Amino acid sequence: MLSHSELIGRIFICTNEKAPEKAQCLKGEGEKCAQWLKEEIEKRGLKSKMRATKTKCLGYCDVNGASLIFEPTHEQYSDVKLEDVPKLFEAFLEKLKI
Ligand code: FES
Repeated sequence: MLSHSELIGRIFICTNEKAPEKAQCLKGEGEKCAQWLKEEIEKRGLKSKMRATKTKCLGYCDVNGASLIFEPTHEQYSDVKLEDVPKLFEAFLEKLKI
């Protein structure tokens, strides 16, 4: 068994695509959010401390944006657009005291 306890933060980003007639996160917005977060984590040298992970449906779909979960702060957001992510990420780092 391997322990990865050095990770202090995780961000899960829904990139799910359901059938068009079903409620779903805005197609492609989750991908953009995930890409930005991954690049920002790398740019800030936080890869050993933090991960941004794409997921399937997180269970609170919104048709206007992506759903994100921040852990360990247990924050859950839906209707997230790429332009919202920098502010959410800064607040998350502040809460983790990074
Ligand atoms: S499709 Fe994204 S939370 Fe359900």
